[in-house]
Amino acid sequence: MIAHVPVLCAETVALLRPDRGGLFVDCTVGLGGHARALLEAGATRVLGLDRDHTALARARITLEPCRDRVTLVHADYRDLDGVLRAQGIDALDGALADLGVSSLQLDANDRGFSFQRDEPLDMRMDTKTGNTAAQRLATVPEDELADVIFRFGEERFSRRIARRIVEARAEQPIDTTGRLAAIVRRAIPRQGRSRIDAATRTFQALRIWVNRELEGLDAFLATVARRLRAGARFAVITFHSLEDRIVKHTFRALAHGDTRLVTVLTKKPIVAGPDEIARNPRARSAKLRVAERLSS
Ligand SMILES: C[S@@+](CC[C@H](N)C(=O)[O-])C[C@H]1O[C@@H](n2cnc3c(N)ncnc32)[C@H](O)[C@@H]1O
Repeated sequence: MIAHVPVLCAETVALLRPDRGGLFVDCTVGLGGHARALLEAGATRVLGLDRDHTALARARITLEPCRDRVTLVHADYRDLDGVLRAQGIDALDGALADLGVSSLQLDANDRGFSFQRDEPLDMRMDTKTGNTAAQRLATVPEDELADVIFRFGEERFSRRIARRIVEARAEQPIDTTGRLAAIVRRAIPRQGRSRIDAATRTFQALRIWVNRELEGLDAFLATVARRLRAGARFAVITFHSLEDRIVKHTFRALAHGDTRLVTVLTKKPIVAGPDEIARNPRARSAKLRVAERLSS
């Protein structure tokens, strides 16, 4: 079984204060690492959401010892209000969103998230919904593709990459990660390359596009803030600057608007120390921001 190490776990648990008890929502339960830590530290109950069926199956195993205190739901966190209504839950004692992909998704060899191996180009977190990356790449207009790669990958060679993809798909469908990575690497001039793999930014962009990862993130953060009890906290972990920017700005807006809902506890985001990064390289880009609900 693939080992999964929850990122910034001690910091997240300390800030969420599960030792006070109560109901915590893990909006991205993944493999259940953070959820288990919250339960072991005193959370009375955890409601865990994920849009990936495979992740929920793994979370069920991780959380087996505490199964009486756990409810797992297959859902997109943007539907949180509906999930809470269906569960008869009014207010939360804490919430967590650890955004992005899990190690389970990255390391599986049939999901298409990784350019390190040659596998089908799927990239959907929910494999039962929507079009795969391969299906989308087959028809997307070149301009739109260039825009996606530029916006979601912050890739300065987006136009060249989009042109090469459109040329290549006319010869043969692009339906594996290996073929896509090779096309992208060839599109980027040598002097434009950094130490990271030339395909990294394009893969990130396509993943965000396929899963609509940034869409509605601000509204979701506001929903959680509104559902917290006074004094309850919301922790959000991000892995790239596009997401972190949205979290930072939304928290700021919720803290300063006409109806001040929260106070932000992390003026600067919390990042992993060298020990954690040495143990878990994925932690390198993680940023944790925490907000606390004010009494209304
Ligand atoms: C970084 S992992 C979470 C890992 C988890 N904290 C743990 O300790 O195992 C992110 C998870 O969020 C899920 N996810 C991403 N976007 C989602 C969304 N919009 N709704 C629900 N789950 C989502 C992914 O499927 C993935 O399993």
